[in-house]
Amino acid sequence: MPKIKSITCHKVIDSRAEWTIETHVKLDDGSFGIQTIPEGASKGENEAVSLPADKAVSIVSTAINDALHEEDALDQSKIDQMLIDIDGTDNKRHLGANSTLSVSLALAKACAMSEKLELWEYIALLYRGKKLAHKNLHYPTPVFNIINGGKHAHNNLSFQEFMVIPSKNLAIDKALEVGITIYHTLKDDLIAKNFDVDVGDEGGFAPNNLTVEQALSLIRQAASKSFKPGEDVFFGMDVAAESFYKLGEYTIPEESKKLNTEQLANYYTQLLKKFELIYIEDPFYERDLLGWQNFNSSVGNKLMVVADDLVVTNAKYLQGALDEKLANAVIVKPNQIGTLTETLNFVKIAQQAKLSIIVSHRSGDTAEDTFIADLGIAVGADFMKAGAPVRGERVAKYNRLLEIYSGES
Ligand code: PGA
Ligand code: ZN
Repeated sequence: MPKIKSITCHKVIDSRAEWTIETHVKLDDGSFGIQTIPEGASKGENEAVSLPADKAVSIVSTAINDALHEEDALDQSKIDQMLIDIDGTDNKRHLGANSTLSVSLALAKACAMSEKLELWEYIALLYRGKKLAHKNLHYPTPVFNIINGGKHAHNNLSFQEFMVIPSKNLAIDKALEVGITIYHTLKDDLIAKNFDVDVGDEGGFAPNNLTVEQALSLIRQAASKSFKPGEDVFFGMDVAAESFYKLGEYTIPEESKKLNTEQLANYYTQLLKKFELIYIEDPFYERDLLGWQNFNSSVGNKLMVVADDLVVTNAKYLQGALDEKLANAVIVKPNQIGTLTETLNFVKIAQQAKLSIIVSHRSGDTAEDTFIADLGIAVGADFMKAGAPVRGERVAKYNRLLEIYSGES
Protein backbone atom coordinates (compact mmCIF):
# COMPACT_ATOMS: atom_id res chain seq x y z
CA MET A 1 0.00 0.00 0.00
CA PRO A 2 1.66 3.26 -1.07
CA LYS A 3 1.84 5.98 1.55
CA ILE A 4 1.97 9.75 1.21
CA LYS A 5 5.60 10.83 1.40
CA SER A 6 5.45 14.58 0.82
CA ILE A 7 3.09 17.36 -0.19
CA THR A 8 4.60 20.58 -1.50
CA CYS A 9 3.06 23.63 -3.10
CA HIS A 10 4.14 26.76 -4.97
CA LYS A 11 2.55 29.71 -6.74
CA VAL A 12 1.84 29.71 -10.47
CA ILE A 13 0.12 32.20 -12.80
CA ASP A 14 -3.35 31.58 -14.21
CA SER A 15 -4.92 32.69 -17.51
CA ARG A 16 -6.00 36.04 -16.02
CA ALA A 17 -2.56 37.01 -14.65
CA GLU A 18 -3.66 36.06 -11.13
CA TRP A 19 -1.68 33.90 -8.74
CA THR A 20 -2.94 30.42 -8.08
CA ILE A 21 -1.31 27.31 -6.63
CA GLU A 22 0.32 24.12 -7.89
CA THR A 23 0.54 21.20 -5.49
CA HIS A 24 2.79 18.14 -5.79
CA VAL A 25 1.85 14.98 -3.92
CA LYS A 26 4.58 12.30 -3.79
CA LEU A 27 4.07 8.71 -2.67
CA ASP A 28 6.68 6.44 -1.13
CA ASP A 29 6.66 4.17 -4.21
CA GLY A 30 7.88 7.05 -6.42
CA SER A 31 4.46 7.90 -7.91
CA PHE A 32 3.39 11.52 -7.93
CA GLY A 33 0.56 13.86 -8.92
CA ILE A 34 0.59 17.57 -9.77
CA GLN A 35 -2.46 19.80 -9.69
CA THR A 36 -3.11 23.50 -10.35
CA ILE A 37 -6.33 25.17 -9.28
CA PRO A 38 -8.69 27.36 -11.35
CA GLU A 39 -10.59 30.39 -10.07
CA GLY A 40 -13.98 31.85 -10.98
CA ALA A 41 -14.99 35.48 -11.48
CA SER A 42 -18.73 34.94 -11.38
CA LYS A 43 -19.16 32.95 -8.21
CA GLY A 44 -22.16 31.64 -6.33
CA GLU A 45 -22.59 33.07 -2.84
CA ASN A 46 -22.28 29.61 -1.28
CA GLU A 47 -19.11 28.48 -3.02
CA ALA A 48 -16.32 27.18 -0.83
CA VAL A 49 -13.74 29.83 -0.01
CA SER A 50 -10.53 30.13 -2.01
CA LEU A 51 -7.66 31.64 0.03
CA PRO A 52 -4.97 33.95 -1.40
CA ALA A 53 -2.24 31.90 -3.10
CA ASP A 54 0.52 32.73 -0.59
CA LYS A 55 -1.62 31.62 2.30
CA ALA A 56 -2.70 28.43 0.52
CA VAL A 57 0.92 27.56 -0.34
CA SER A 58 1.87 27.76 3.30
CA ILE A 59 -1.17 25.77 4.50
CA VAL A 60 -0.61 22.97 1.98
CA SER A 61 3.12 22.61 2.59
CA THR A 62 2.97 22.80 6.39
CA ALA A 63 -0.37 21.97 8.07
CA ILE A 64 -1.71 19.61 5.38
CA ASN A 65 1.67 18.01 4.65
CA ASP A 66 2.18 17.30 8.37
CA ALA A 67 -1.34 15.93 8.86
CA LEU A 68 -1.31 13.56 5.86
CA HIS A 69 2.27 12.32 6.11
CA GLU A 70 2.46 8.50 5.87
CA GLU A 71 -1.31 8.13 5.37
CA ASP A 72 -2.56 5.35 3.08
CA ALA A 73 -2.64 7.08 -0.31
CA LEU A 74 -5.25 4.83 -1.88
CA ASP A 75 -7.89 5.70 0.70
CA GLN A 76 -9.12 8.80 -1.17
CA SER A 77 -12.32 9.19 0.83
CA LYS A 78 -10.46 8.96 4.16
CA ILE A 79 -7.89 11.56 3.08
CA ASP A 80 -10.64 13.86 1.82
CA GLN A 81 -12.54 13.42 5.08
CA MET A 82 -9.38 14.31 7.00
CA LEU A 83 -9.10 17.52 4.96
CA ILE A 84 -12.75 18.31 5.68
CA ASP A 85 -12.26 17.61 9.41
CA ILE A 86 -9.05 19.60 9.77
CA ASP A 87 -10.75 22.50 8.02
CA GLY A 88 -13.77 22.17 10.31
CA THR A 89 -15.93 24.80 8.57
CA ASP A 90 -18.91 24.46 6.24
CA ASN A 91 -17.20 26.32 3.37
CA LYS A 92 -13.46 25.42 3.72
CA ARG A 93 -12.67 28.95 4.87
CA HIS A 94 -10.05 27.71 7.32
CA LEU A 95 -7.79 25.72 4.96
CA GLY A 96 -9.17 27.13 1.70
CA ALA A 97 -10.94 25.01 -0.93
CA ASN A 98 -8.06 25.75 -3.29
CA SER A 99 -5.64 24.16 -0.79
CA THR A 100 -7.78 21.10 -0.11
CA LEU A 101 -8.72 20.52 -3.75
CA SER A 102 -5.14 20.75 -4.97
CA VAL A 103 -4.15 18.01 -2.52
CA SER A 104 -7.22 15.88 -3.20
CA LEU A 105 -6.81 15.92 -7.00
CA ALA A 106 -3.01 15.60 -6.98
CA LEU A 107 -3.43 12.59 -4.69
CA ALA A 108 -5.84 10.94 -7.16
CA LYS A 109 -3.28 11.47 -9.95
CA ALA A 110 -0.48 10.00 -7.84
CA CYS A 111 -2.64 6.97 -7.06
CA ALA A 112 -3.55 6.51 -10.72
CA MET A 113 0.18 6.44 -11.51
CA SER A 114 0.83 4.03 -8.66
CA GLU A 115 -1.94 1.71 -9.87
CA LYS A 116 -0.76 2.08 -13.50
CA LEU A 117 -4.14 3.43 -14.54
CA GLU A 118 -5.16 6.44 -16.59
CA LEU A 119 -6.65 9.19 -14.44
CA TRP A 120 -10.14 8.61 -15.91
CA GLU A 121 -9.83 4.90 -15.11
CA TYR A 122 -8.85 5.59 -11.52
CA ILE A 123 -11.66 8.12 -10.98
CA ALA A 124 -14.14 5.71 -12.59
CA LEU A 125 -13.00 3.03 -10.16
CA LEU A 126 -13.52 5.39 -7.22
CA TYR A 127 -16.92 6.43 -8.56
CA ARG A 128 -18.33 3.10 -9.70
CA GLY A 129 -16.38 0.62 -7.60
CA LYS A 130 -15.51 -1.28 -10.78
CA LYS A 131 -13.41 -0.86 -13.89
CA LEU A 132 -14.68 1.05 -16.89
CA ALA A 133 -13.54 -0.31 -20.27
CA HIS A 134 -12.28 2.10 -22.92
CA LYS A 135 -14.75 0.75 -25.48
CA ASN A 136 -17.65 1.67 -23.19
CA LEU A 137 -16.63 5.28 -22.67
CA HIS A 138 -19.18 8.03 -23.08
CA TYR A 139 -17.59 11.35 -24.07
CA PRO A 140 -19.18 14.53 -22.76
CA THR A 141 -20.53 16.74 -25.54
CA PRO A 142 -18.51 19.97 -25.69
CA VAL A 143 -20.34 23.21 -24.99
CA PHE A 144 -18.48 26.09 -26.68
CA ASN A 145 -18.83 29.57 -25.25
CA ILE A 146 -18.12 31.69 -28.34
CA ILE A 147 -19.48 35.10 -27.33
CA ASN A 148 -18.45 36.40 -23.90
CA GLY A 149 -20.15 39.10 -21.83
CA GLY A 150 -20.98 39.74 -18.17
CA LYS A 151 -18.03 39.45 -15.83
CA HIS A 152 -15.87 37.76 -18.47
CA ALA A 153 -15.53 40.69 -20.87
CA HIS A 154 -15.38 44.48 -20.91
CA ASN A 155 -18.28 44.91 -23.28
CA ASN A 156 -21.91 45.85 -22.72
CA LEU A 157 -23.47 42.39 -22.89
CA SER A 158 -25.25 41.58 -19.63
CA PHE A 159 -25.57 37.85 -20.31
CA GLN A 160 -22.27 36.08 -19.64
CA GLU A 161 -22.03 33.29 -22.23
CA PHE A 162 -23.49 32.49 -25.64
CA MET A 163 -22.79 28.91 -26.60
CA VAL A 164 -22.98 26.43 -29.46
CA ILE A 165 -23.70 22.82 -28.60
CA PRO A 166 -23.09 20.10 -31.21
CA SER A 167 -25.59 17.25 -31.49
CA LYS A 168 -25.08 14.50 -28.92
CA ASN A 169 -25.04 11.99 -31.78
CA LEU A 170 -21.67 13.19 -33.07
CA ALA A 171 -18.42 11.48 -32.15
CA ILE A 172 -16.16 13.69 -30.06
CA ASP A 173 -13.80 14.62 -32.91
CA LYS A 174 -16.75 15.61 -35.12
CA ALA A 175 -18.32 17.57 -32.27
CA LEU A 176 -15.09 19.52 -31.81
CA GLU A 177 -15.02 20.17 -35.56
CA VAL A 178 -18.46 21.78 -35.27
CA GLY A 179 -17.17 24.18 -32.60
CA ILE A 180 -14.06 25.06 -34.58
CA THR A 181 -15.94 25.66 -37.83
CA ILE A 182 -18.54 27.93 -36.24
CA TYR A 183 -15.86 29.83 -34.33
CA HIS A 184 -14.00 30.68 -37.55
CA THR A 185 -17.18 31.63 -39.40
CA LEU A 186 -18.32 33.84 -36.54
CA LYS A 187 -14.95 35.60 -36.56
CA ASP A 188 -15.23 36.34 -40.30
CA ASP A 189 -18.82 37.54 -39.88
CA LEU A 190 -17.88 39.85 -36.99
CA ILE A 191 -15.00 41.34 -38.98
CA ALA A 192 -17.29 41.86 -42.00
CA LYS A 193 -19.73 43.73 -39.75
CA ASN A 194 -16.96 45.87 -38.19
CA PHE A 195 -17.23 44.32 -34.76
CA ASP A 196 -14.21 43.69 -32.53
CA VAL A 197 -12.83 40.17 -32.50
CA ASP A 198 -10.92 40.56 -29.24
CA VAL A 199 -11.69 37.66 -26.95
CA GLY A 200 -12.92 37.47 -23.36
CA ASP A 201 -11.68 35.33 -20.49
CA GLU A 202 -13.08 32.09 -21.91
CA GLY A 203 -11.90 32.69 -25.48
CA GLY A 204 -15.25 33.75 -26.92
CA PHE A 205 -15.45 36.99 -28.90
CA ALA A 206 -16.35 40.05 -26.86
CA PRO A 207 -17.75 42.58 -29.34
CA ASN A 208 -19.23 45.80 -28.04
CA ASN A 209 -22.69 47.21 -28.72
CA LEU A 210 -24.47 43.92 -29.22
CA THR A 211 -27.88 43.08 -27.87
CA VAL A 212 -28.72 39.62 -26.55
CA GLU A 213 -30.80 38.86 -29.64
CA GLN A 214 -28.04 40.07 -31.96
CA ALA A 215 -25.54 37.82 -30.21
CA LEU A 216 -27.84 34.83 -30.67
CA SER A 217 -28.60 35.78 -34.29
CA LEU A 218 -24.90 36.10 -35.13
CA ILE A 219 -24.17 32.68 -33.67
CA ARG A 220 -27.15 31.17 -35.46
CA GLN A 221 -26.15 32.72 -38.79
CA ALA A 222 -22.57 31.50 -38.43
CA ALA A 223 -23.75 28.00 -37.50
CA SER A 224 -26.26 27.88 -40.37
CA LYS A 225 -23.54 28.35 -43.00
CA SER A 226 -22.19 24.83 -42.33
CA PHE A 227 -24.75 23.06 -40.15
CA LYS A 228 -28.45 22.72 -39.53
CA PRO A 229 -29.57 24.41 -36.30
CA GLY A 230 -31.95 22.12 -34.44
CA GLU A 231 -30.32 19.03 -35.97
CA ASP A 232 -26.50 19.18 -35.99
CA VAL A 233 -26.13 22.09 -33.63
CA PHE A 234 -28.04 23.82 -30.85
CA PHE A 235 -27.55 26.95 -28.77
CA GLY A 236 -27.23 27.80 -25.11
CA MET A 237 -26.64 30.70 -22.73
CA ASP A 238 -25.15 31.12 -19.29
CA VAL A 239 -27.09 34.17 -18.20
CA ALA A 240 -25.34 34.38 -14.79
CA ALA A 241 -28.36 36.43 -13.78
CA GLU A 242 -27.11 37.41 -10.35
CA SER A 243 -24.64 39.79 -12.02
CA PHE A 244 -27.46 42.13 -13.16
CA TYR A 245 -30.01 41.48 -10.41
CA LYS A 246 -30.81 44.04 -7.76
CA LEU A 247 -33.74 44.29 -5.37
CA GLY A 248 -36.16 42.16 -7.36
CA GLU A 249 -35.22 43.54 -10.78
CA TYR A 250 -33.07 42.30 -13.63
CA THR A 251 -31.57 45.21 -15.57
CA ILE A 252 -30.50 44.55 -19.18
CA PRO A 253 -29.35 47.95 -20.49
CA GLU A 254 -28.51 46.76 -24.02
CA GLU A 255 -32.16 45.71 -24.41
CA SER A 256 -33.44 48.78 -22.52
CA LYS A 257 -35.15 46.36 -20.16
CA LYS A 258 -35.79 46.30 -16.43
CA LEU A 259 -37.64 43.09 -15.75
CA ASN A 260 -39.18 41.40 -12.75
CA THR A 261 -38.87 37.64 -12.43
CA GLU A 262 -41.98 36.81 -14.40
CA GLN A 263 -41.09 39.23 -17.19
CA LEU A 264 -37.61 37.75 -17.44
CA ALA A 265 -39.13 34.27 -17.73
CA ASN A 266 -41.41 35.56 -20.52
CA TYR A 267 -38.40 37.08 -22.25
CA TYR A 268 -36.65 33.68 -22.21
CA THR A 269 -39.79 32.04 -23.57
CA GLN A 270 -39.75 34.46 -26.51
CA LEU A 271 -36.09 33.65 -27.19
CA LEU A 272 -36.93 29.93 -27.11
CA LYS A 273 -39.40 30.49 -29.94
CA LYS A 274 -36.83 32.26 -32.13
CA PHE A 275 -33.69 30.21 -31.54
CA GLU A 276 -32.85 26.52 -31.18
CA LEU A 277 -31.95 27.00 -27.52
CA ILE A 278 -31.64 23.80 -25.49
CA TYR A 279 -29.68 25.17 -22.53
CA ILE A 280 -30.06 28.15 -20.17
CA GLU A 281 -27.74 28.32 -17.15
CA ASP A 282 -28.41 30.45 -14.07
CA PRO A 283 -31.51 32.09 -15.60
CA PHE A 284 -32.34 33.68 -12.23
CA TYR A 285 -30.50 34.94 -9.18
CA GLU A 286 -29.78 32.07 -6.79
CA ARG A 287 -32.23 33.35 -4.14
CA ASP A 288 -35.02 33.94 -6.64
CA LEU A 289 -36.26 30.41 -5.98
CA LEU A 290 -39.80 30.94 -7.16
CA GLY A 291 -38.43 32.16 -10.48
CA TRP A 292 -36.39 28.97 -10.86
CA GLN A 293 -39.29 26.75 -9.83
CA ASN A 294 -41.87 28.29 -12.17
CA PHE A 295 -39.45 28.37 -15.08
CA ASN A 296 -38.36 24.75 -14.64
CA SER A 297 -41.93 23.56 -14.36
CA SER A 298 -43.02 25.46 -17.47
CA VAL A 299 -40.11 24.77 -19.87
CA GLY A 300 -38.06 22.02 -18.17
CA ASN A 301 -39.53 19.40 -20.52
CA LYS A 302 -37.89 21.03 -23.57
CA LEU A 303 -34.94 22.99 -22.16
CA MET A 304 -31.99 22.28 -19.89
CA VAL A 305 -32.51 24.58 -16.92
CA VAL A 306 -28.96 24.51 -15.58
CA ALA A 307 -28.01 25.28 -11.98
CA ASP A 308 -24.51 26.59 -11.33
CA ASP A 309 -24.45 29.33 -8.65
CA LEU A 310 -27.64 27.83 -7.23
CA VAL A 311 -26.05 24.53 -6.17
CA VAL A 312 -22.26 25.17 -6.28
CA THR A 313 -21.31 21.45 -6.51
CA ASN A 314 -22.59 21.06 -2.93
CA ALA A 315 -24.83 18.10 -2.05
CA LYS A 316 -26.74 20.15 0.52
CA TYR A 317 -27.84 22.81 -1.99
CA LEU A 318 -28.44 20.16 -4.64
CA GLN A 319 -30.87 18.40 -2.30
CA GLY A 320 -32.75 21.67 -1.81
CA ALA A 321 -32.94 22.16 -5.59
CA LEU A 322 -34.21 18.59 -6.05
CA ASP A 323 -36.84 18.92 -3.31
CA GLU A 324 -38.19 22.11 -4.86
CA LYS A 325 -37.71 20.97 -8.51
CA LEU A 326 -35.70 24.08 -9.37
CA ALA A 327 -33.54 22.73 -12.22
CA ASN A 328 -33.04 19.68 -14.44
CA ALA A 329 -29.28 19.97 -15.02
CA VAL A 330 -26.27 20.89 -12.88
CA ILE A 331 -22.79 22.29 -13.37
CA VAL A 332 -19.93 20.41 -11.70
CA LYS A 333 -16.91 22.50 -10.68
CA PRO A 334 -14.65 20.71 -8.20
CA ASN A 335 -13.25 23.97 -6.83
CA GLN A 336 -16.72 25.09 -5.73
CA ILE A 337 -16.60 22.38 -3.04
CA GLY A 338 -12.93 21.48 -2.45
CA THR A 339 -12.45 17.68 -2.55
CA LEU A 340 -12.81 14.91 -5.13
CA THR A 341 -14.95 12.77 -2.83
CA GLU A 342 -17.51 15.54 -2.30
CA THR A 343 -17.54 16.23 -6.06
CA LEU A 344 -18.23 12.57 -6.86
CA ASN A 345 -20.92 12.41 -4.19
CA PHE A 346 -22.62 15.45 -5.74
CA VAL A 347 -22.53 13.83 -9.20
CA LYS A 348 -23.93 10.58 -7.81
CA ILE A 349 -26.93 12.30 -6.22
CA ALA A 350 -27.55 14.35 -9.37
CA GLN A 351 -27.32 11.30 -11.65
CA GLN A 352 -29.64 9.27 -9.40
CA ALA A 353 -32.14 12.12 -9.72
CA LYS A 354 -31.70 11.96 -13.53
CA LEU A 355 -30.30 15.46 -13.86
CA SER A 356 -27.98 16.22 -16.77
CA ILE A 357 -24.36 16.69 -15.71
CA ILE A 358 -22.09 19.39 -17.13
CA VAL A 359 -18.46 19.35 -15.94
CA SER A 360 -16.95 22.81 -16.18
CA HIS A 361 -13.74 24.83 -16.23
CA ARG A 362 -13.50 28.26 -14.53
CA SER A 363 -12.90 31.59 -16.23
CA GLY A 364 -9.45 31.80 -14.60
CA ASP A 365 -7.76 28.51 -15.50
CA THR A 366 -4.47 26.91 -16.53
CA ALA A 367 -3.34 24.82 -19.48
CA GLU A 368 -1.77 22.33 -17.06
CA ASP A 369 -5.17 21.41 -15.65
CA THR A 370 -7.25 18.99 -17.70
CA PHE A 371 -8.82 17.20 -14.74
CA ILE A 372 -12.42 17.94 -15.79
CA ALA A 373 -11.96 15.96 -19.03
CA ASP A 374 -11.00 12.81 -17.10
CA LEU A 375 -13.67 13.50 -14.50
CA GLY A 376 -16.34 13.94 -17.17
CA ILE A 377 -15.43 10.67 -18.85
CA ALA A 378 -15.15 8.78 -15.56
CA VAL A 379 -18.64 9.72 -14.37
CA GLY A 380 -20.27 9.67 -17.82
CA ALA A 381 -21.08 13.41 -17.79
CA ASP A 382 -23.46 14.60 -20.50
CA PHE A 383 -21.55 17.80 -21.36
CA MET A 384 -18.25 19.58 -20.79
CA LYS A 385 -17.92 23.37 -20.72
CA ALA A 386 -14.39 24.51 -21.46
CA GLY A 387 -14.91 27.78 -23.33
CA ALA A 388 -14.19 28.54 -26.96
CA PRO A 389 -11.87 26.26 -28.98
CA VAL A 390 -8.99 28.76 -28.53
CA ARG A 391 -6.51 29.77 -25.78
CA GLY A 392 -4.23 27.14 -24.31
CA GLU A 393 -6.09 26.74 -21.04
CA ARG A 394 -9.37 26.06 -22.90
CA VAL A 395 -8.15 23.77 -25.69
CA ALA A 396 -6.11 21.67 -23.26
CA LYS A 397 -9.36 20.22 -21.89
CA TYR A 398 -10.78 19.49 -25.35
CA ASN A 399 -7.45 18.02 -26.44
CA ARG A 400 -7.46 15.72 -23.42
CA LEU A 401 -10.80 14.30 -24.60
CA LEU A 402 -9.21 13.69 -28.01
CA GLU A 403 -6.20 12.03 -26.43
CA ILE A 404 -8.43 9.61 -24.55
CA TYR A 405 -10.62 9.09 -27.63
CA SER A 406 -7.56 8.21 -29.72
CA GLY A 407 -6.93 5.28 -27.38
CA GLU A 408 -3.47 6.57 -26.46
CA SER A 409 -4.61 7.26 -22.91
P1 PGA B 1 -16.63 31.70 -13.45
O1 PGA B 1 -17.86 31.61 -14.42
O2 PGA B 1 -15.69 30.61 -13.69
O3 PGA B 1 -16.07 33.07 -13.75
O4 PGA B 1 -17.21 31.69 -12.06
C1 PGA B 1 -18.23 30.46 -15.07
C2 PGA B 1 -19.70 30.23 -14.94
O5 PGA B 1 -20.44 31.06 -14.38
O6 PGA B 1 -20.15 29.18 -15.38
ZN1 ZN C 1 -22.26 29.56 -14.82
